[in-house]
Amino acid sequence: MLFEEYTYFNYQFPDPQYLGAKHTHLAWIKKFIPDNIRTAIDAFAGSQSVAFLFKQMGFQTITNDFLNFNNQIGLALIENNGTTLTEKDIKLLFQPAKNKNKFQLMENTFTGVFFEKSEAEFLDNFRANIPLLNNTGKQALAYTIINRSMTRKVTMGHFGHTQALRYASDPERIKRNRSLIRPIKDIFEELLPKYNNAVFDNKQENHSYNKNILELLPTLENVDLAYFDPPYCDSHADYQSFYHLLETFTEYWQDKQFINGIKRYEPQRFSGFDKKRDVINSFERLFEFAEAIPCWLISYNNRSYPSVEDFEKIISKHRQVKIETKTYQNGRGGKGSVAGSQEILFVCTPKQKHFITSNQKEQLVNERF
Ligand SMILES: C[S@@+](CC[C@H](N)C(=O)[O-])C[C@H]1O[C@@H](n2cnc3c(N)ncnc32)[C@H](O)[C@@H]1O
Repeated sequence: MLFEEYTYFNYQFPDPQYLGAKHTHLAWIKKFIPDNIRTAIDAFAGSQSVAFLFKQMGFQTITNDFLNFNNQIGLALIENNGTTLTEKDIKLLFQPAKNKNKFQLMENTFTGVFFEKSEAEFLDNFRANIPLLNNTGKQALAYTIINRSMTRKVTMGHFGHTQALRYASDPERIKRNRSLIRPIKDIFEELLPKYNNAVFDNKQENHSYNKNILELLPTLENVDLAYFDPPYCDSHADYQSFYHLLETFTEYWQDKQFINGIKRYEPQRFSGFDKKRDVINSFERLFEFAEAIPCWLISYNNRSYPSVEDFEKIISKHRQVKIETKTYQNGRGGKGSVAGSQEILFVCTPKQKHFITSNQKEQLVNERF
């Protein structure tokens, strides 16, 4: 590592609140990253915690998530090498929107469900102003920080329940978490410097994508390391139901229905990795598409489907596998992280035949003649 690369570790990744986020496992995961990596992909990036580590390590970082609100974090903190939000930008975001009448989705959909009317109106107004920011990095920061503010505001930090307003008027809960009664605007202002300070330039062209990984992988070349952290099928895998509200805010859907008590959008995007009926086939395709990437790290959990043993068999068709495990001491790690459950990392390296370098090949030929 060059001296300059050490300094990237002075930048701090703002604490996420995302099911299955790996920010607490980064030091452990880092131990298994091989040397000599130039380009790495975080294929199911979620909060972007591992992509941020790759960027800090000086890699050209490709990051991807099929949900756009996660991609916005990638655009803001991974692809963006220098743009931050200024006071002028903030004024613009908070100003009364000229086209207010076209921006009422949050008010119409979520008033009385997750927010009081005034908060929902504030969100619509803010959303109407985001396109006025003059570049993608600034817009992405605005989405990222306001979305994070919403998870701070809502009990449990996700939108898969209908208890938000009830808990926000429960004195016991408020005592434990004052954010429940704070205006979103205040939370936004508190978070802003943390995100601005996390923007840095690692002298690489980094990219954030918003694609189904099965469509993206076949289009990529010259990637040295892939990190796969798929949803843990059978255990909190439905990210679209937990975080539907952030996706609705970001996409500002005009063509969806909003269903159930939580008003999640329908139809949902197709993942391929969150339902038992699809997941085996999706993994087989994923690994075929990743054939040209020499090293893979795959996060997993011992409560997922397929079982660790069956999953190892699938991976072994393509790579030599070593299984590393980290046992949770308590149940606070998010997705599947019940006490006693294990965080697993499949460390996958090329099978022997791939190791033959061009030098070795030449030697072999010479020996035969
Ligand atoms: C376990 S989470 C990743 C957590 C992440 N490593 C972190 O530290 O925050 C899995 C992610 O995969 C995404 N996802 C699910 N299906 C996908 C697909 N087919 N292509 C790309 N991303 C997908 C989900 O939106 C979710 O963010």
